[in-house]
Amino acid sequence: MATERTLSIIKPDATRRNLTGQINAKFEAAGLRIVAQKRIHLTKAQAGKFYEVHKERPFYDELCDFMSSEPVVVQVLEGEGAIARNREVMGATNPANAADGTIRKDFALSVGENSVHGSDAPETAAVEIAYFFSGLELVG
Ligand code: CMP
Repeated sequence: MATERTLSIIKPDATRRNLTGQINAKFEAAGLRIVAQKRIHLTKAQAGKFYEVHKERPFYDELCDFMSSEPVVVQVLEGEGAIARNREVMGATNPANAADGTIRKDFALSVGENSVHGSDAPETAAVEIAYFFSGLELVG
């Protein structure tokens, strides 16, 4: 399997509870390397642009309010099959369905406040990484 990069976001519910280190430990234990990382506070417009694909969904406004409510940590994870591996480590979107030991099982509060985001495919990973990072900031 090829080495990939994926975009990860540690969401406001997790940064608020000081869980960044515990979440990063799960990524690293799963063989994912953090090759870029920064803590930022998104505006609602920036969150809205990132989640534009969901703009017709009923939860879009709530999602953008939440993602701009407090700081997030945006990061690029690198590893063998990193996109799928990260999704395994995160667990199901709804924590009620997440497997034991996953980030969402251990930390998420609800389907909306679900602690982490991860890219779902190579094409979206490329777009999402470029939204937050320049090439110079990716240090493998
Ligand atoms: P994420 O992987 O960041 O991608 C889109 C987000 O929308 C998703 O995680 C959830 O946090 C959020 N989401 C999905 N379904 C709902 C819902 N029914 N209500 C609120 N937020 C949702």
